[in-house]
Amino acid sequence: MTVPTNPGKAETPKLDTTIMHKGLEGIVAAQTAISHIDGINGRLFYRGLDIDDLAAHSTFEETTALLWYGKLPNKSQLDSFKNKFIANRLIPNEVISILLMLPKQTTPMGVLRTAVSALAPYDPATGDNSLDANVNKSIRLTASLPTIVAAWDRIRNGLWPVTPSTHLSHAANFLYMLTGKEPSETAARILDTCLILHADHGLNASTFAARITASTLSNLHSAVVSAIGTLKGSLHGGANEQVMRMLLEVGNVDRVDQYMRGAFSAKKKIMGFGHRVYKADDPRANWLQRLSHELSEASGNMRWYEISERIRQIVQDNKSLPVNVDFYSASVYYTMGIPIDLFTPIFAVSRVAGWTAHVYEQYSDNRLIRPESEYIGPMNVPYTPLDQRGK
Ligand SMILES: CC(C)(COP(=O)(O)OP(=O)(O)OC[C@H]1O[C@@H](n2cnc3c(N)ncnc32)[C@H](O)[C@@H]1OP(=O)(O)O)[C@@H](O)C(=O)NCCC(=O)NCCS
Repeated sequence: MTVPTNPGKAETPKLDTTIMHKGLEGIVAAQTAISHIDGINGRLFYRGLDIDDLAAHSTFEETTALLWYGKLPNKSQLDSFKNKFIANRLIPNEVISILLMLPKQTTPMGVLRTAVSALAPYDPATGDNSLDANVNKSIRLTASLPTIVAAWDRIRNGLWPVTPSTHLSHAANFLYMLTGKEPSETAARILDTCLILHADHGLNASTFAARITASTLSNLHSAVVSAIGTLKGSLHGGANEQVMRMLLEVGNVDRVDQYMRGAFSAKKKIMGFGHRVYKADDPRANWLQRLSHELSEASGNMRWYEISERIRQIVQDNKSLPVNVDFYSASVYYTMGIPIDLFTPIFAVSRVAGWTAHVYEQYSDNRLIRPESEYIGPMNVPYTPLDQRGK
């Protein structure tokens, strides 16, 4: 399959350079043919396909092929794509040695950022920015991320990493490497759906970070490292972990109203709500809500789902904030028994598909991304020699 090139060079819009757009709100900084968010109607499309269809029918592997190559693969293309992922799941022993040396309290996102950086010199095409090399590097990186996350969770718990499976799907293999046991079909399907839902999302902050790095003609690994560091923050991917901490703090559905009154009066941001682009509920949250309900019923523990539902109701009644992808993913992962600080790394395990697709697109029609700042500091400050600056 061939990777599509950029849809065409953007017309340079006439910008009023006297206006500062804090947070770049409303600024179109790139053209993309990878994904589209219809924020008014709460819809999301990957390469023109509705996320609802992909979540219902696709797999993470197929969705990744769609993002990278621009169209759904046929059967033989998909088989060969899946086999390439399977063949690239092992990470070099040298990188495992680095993980073994890290302090056990290192956050999994910090470990992931370090490990992706450490993988770069072991990649045979590390400095090659050609499209072929980048696609091959993306396969190796996407295949490696679950291995890193699962290996770290084992290492910090004093266990030896599990050798990746040579037959399980991307999602099932991740759960297998975490626990050492093959997951149920339901668990594998639910995680697979989560991976599909998180794979790309327009010019979100981490993707923008990846594109900025690529725009300097730095390499793919550097772009992914930038993106991981950006995803980590609680206003972006880190929100799913904060949602779960909120649910735990609330503890019981009877306490939700009181908790929310306190949160509103303290002007706290409610994690899992609000979005720069969506004005309607995020379509991914609808899927995750259903998955959370399904898992909670199957586990016989509705507590986290019920608390989530009550929080959502109260937010809806009091604020016009849409629910976002991070809200129900928290209870989904928690009910699956996944440690809270792996929630954001799982987001990265999926989003690497989108980041890398955006890096190809950036290279295919590159211009250095370099906005301006409005200087608001002092001017013409005299230089005071060191011996005249006091103690
Ligand atoms: C996602 C987010 C960062 C978007 O930010 P943004 O477009 O810059 O919007 P702002 O943070 O400026 O918010 C605009 C207003 O809505 C309020 N708001 C936005 N999200 C809110 C939330 N989750 N809870 C409470 N108030 C919120 C802000 O306080 C602000 O109110 P003000 O104008 O009275 O000061 C923001 O909604 C947020 O912090 N959400 C919580 C974190 C989260 O879930 N992140 C994951 C996103 S997928």
